[in-house]
Amino acid sequence: MKAHLTRRYIFSASHRLHCDELSEAQNREAYGKCNNPHGHGHNYALEVTVSGQVDAKTGMVCNLADLDGTVGGEVLNRFDHVNLNQCAEFEAMVPTTENLSEVIFHILKQKFKAAHLERVRLEETAMNSFEYCGD
Ligand code: NI
Repeated sequence: MKAHLTRRYIFSASHRLHCDELSEAQNREAYGKCNNPHGHGHNYALEVTVSGQVDAKTGMVCNLADLDGTVGGEVLNRFDHVNLNQCAEFEAMVPTTENLSEVIFHILKQKFKAAHLERVRLEETAMNSFEYCGD
């Protein structure tokens, strides 16, 4: 039997949406108040979905402690309470939540081997969420 498991995590980070290849006016046009030079913060809710065969003995897709360890060590430690614009991952990429979803997906794809990574879903506000499931 194959099953999906989704676990939810919370972290906070700030960002400024600004693309160096666009003019000041184009940046304001594209990002509105998210282009404010002082940036702004979000309390992100991150959902990670993995899948796999349910182990006949344990009855589990994977051990939640393993998933928590990888998400905690590789994602939350890296992005909680930081300015995303200053992270190496966003040196050459605008830290939109679309891009952050993709970055988190690729980090977890590399680091989490105990089950198949299906999806990363990131809630930026009560009104917006973004999903990335790989190419
Ligand atoms: Ni924002």
